[in-house]
Amino acid sequence: MSSNRDSRATPTILIIGASRGLGHAIAAEFLKKDWSVVGTVRGAKPQTKLHDLAEQHKDQVEIEILDINEQEQIAALRNRLSGRRFEILFVNAGTTTNNEHVKIGDVTTEEFMRVMITNSLSPMRVVEALQDLVPQTGMIGVMSSGQGSITNNLTGMREVYRGSKAALNMFMRSFATRQSNEKRAMVLMAPGWVRTDLGGPGARLSIEESVPNLVDVLLGKLGRPGLEYLDYLGRIVPW
Ligand SMILES: NC(=O)c1ccc[n+]([C@@H]2O[C@H](COP(=O)([O-])OP(=O)(O)OC[C@H]3O[C@@H](n4cnc5c(N)ncnc54)[C@H](OP(=O)(O)O)[C@@H]3O)[C@@H](O)[C@H]2O)c1
Repeated sequence: MSSNRDSRATPTILIIGASRGLGHAIAAEFLKKDWSVVGTVRGAKPQTKLHDLAEQHKDQVEIEILDINEQEQIAALRNRLSGRRFEILFVNAGTTTNNEHVKIGDVTTEEFMRVMITNSLSPMRVVEALQDLVPQTGMIGVMSSGQGSITNNLTGMREVYRGSKAALNMFMRSFATRQSNEKRAMVLMAPGWVRTDLGGPGARLSIEESVPNLVDVLLGKLGRPGLEYLDYLGRIVPW
């Protein structure tokens, strides 16, 4: 999709996993703030909520295809985006177990691998592959979860999901230690428990209660070097 805008004047966010839920809402919020958005969808569905957004904001939204679990698709996206510059790369895509009550000893190996690969390995493959599209003044963010905090795990439940986000946090910290001489901001975001397909109808927050705050926290973190684990109100989450 072509853009008539002057890309030098318009900051751009690349959101990985923007078809629905929080990723779509983050895209909509950045548009309100006059940013341009490149958002990815998996490609199986011809019309997603991101496509609706692109129709309403033709000059501001581009759609790319990516399944983060397919390494060759990550490489192909990196090639297509050569020469582009993104003030923010935000990896939002994630999944959970079909049954949130399943204990770690009872989960099937297949489901364990699906959740761990999607939530921990694949986001980091995306970060590693696309990091050079983000300038030193920019930011690399990944959607974590409060459930990834080891310190705050006093209630159990969602054991595989918690483990996958704790692993993501550890991998992002490893990545950050390799970037310690750089000025780029990095963030692991905990959006709160939000009513989406993943969060479920009983979640505490609406998308409207989480995402505008979350986007303000992201924008506030731009220009502050180093990795922080923050929630949607900007509070530090203990590791
Ligand atoms: N909702 C909450 O309470 C909550 C709390 C803490 C953290 N989070 C995190 O927030 C992120 C978004 O969650 P959500 O609540 O918005 O869930 P959602 O409504 O289920 O959306 C999940 C998104 O991830 C995408 N996705 C899943 N697997 C993918 C893959 N292999 N490749 C590319 N995209 C993939 C989905 O794309 P498709 O449409 O193609 O399936 C969709 O855009 C996740 O990382 C989640 O763990 C959510």
